[in-house]
Amino acid sequence: MKVSVKVPATSANLGPGFDCLGLALPIYNTVTIEETVLPGTGIEINLMSEGEEVIDEAAFDNIPRDENNIVYKAVEMLYNSIGQEPSELKINIQSQIPITRGLGSSAAVVVGGLIAANKLLGSPADETALLSIATEVEGHPDNVAPAILGGFVLASQEDDGSVIYRKLDWPQEWDITVCIPDFELSTSIARSVLPEQVPLQDAIFNAKHLAMLIQAVNTKDEKLMQAALKDKLHQPYREKLVPGMKEIMDAFKHEDGVLGCVLSGAGPAMLIISHKYDLDKIKSIVKEIWEAQSIKVEIKTLKIEQKGAEILE
Ligand code: HSE
Repeated sequence: MKVSVKVPATSANLGPGFDCLGLALPIYNTVTIEETVLPGTGIEINLMSEGEEVIDEAAFDNIPRDENNIVYKAVEMLYNSIGQEPSELKINIQSQIPITRGLGSSAAVVVGGLIAANKLLGSPADETALLSIATEVEGHPDNVAPAILGGFVLASQEDDGSVIYRKLDWPQEWDITVCIPDFELSTSIARSVLPEQVPLQDAIFNAKHLAMLIQAVNTKDEKLMQAALKDKLHQPYREKLVPGMKEIMDAFKHEDGVLGCVLSGAGPAMLIISHKYDLDKIKSIVKEIWEAQSIKVEIKTLKIEQKGAEILE
């Protein structure tokens, strides 16, 4: 028996929602898991890229194809949670989501693997259990939760490890322009530049802006959204890892119709949120800034993906 699951890309943080907000985007990875009947065949992991220009084949070479693969680890944890061991498994991953760009490619494959394995096992785990296994393996509920649920999601990993999450309404008319540069930035490097402690004023700044953001989204208040999309907990520290990031943010600061410009997850991709704004102008501004630094960029304007991970029949 085999099961395929299609999972959307995700963009975490949205500025002040560091480690707790994320949204799903219509770019997908598909994970297929097959229980092979022949004993002794072990595990087999295959990766296929379906991408466009920016996907980096070399990045694929660094992904483990054995028990250390993150999808296998998640699947193993699910089997163990019901007292079983995975044995003969074939895992195929078709990837459209660029790797190490801040678009949730690892959350997507972990979620896809877990949902496929859960179906193969007769669905012993519910959504909350799958979300908590995925978070334990992948580490980022702000990617994992929107990958499972779709849409715009608030997800908090509590001190006891449990995850509290809610899907919120995102104004469908807001455009999301995703700008994906042709260089990689691993989440571990992007986290290594963050300080252990932050000034109280910066924590207060983010609390205020996160509250504004939630209210702005709930009431489709574009002026409030423009004020909200600011952060002092992660973006300023990550600026040095993403050449051009500050210039791109500055370029859109005072544009009517642009609600904000943020780093996507841990970067280096960036998101520009706008409404009734000239999308070609966004593209040409971003291209000009990055190309001046010899950085190629793929730019897509998308609507939020309301559908989460989906089992393909
Ligand atoms: N919130 C995480 C971070 C997301 O910014 O490090 C990682 O995808």
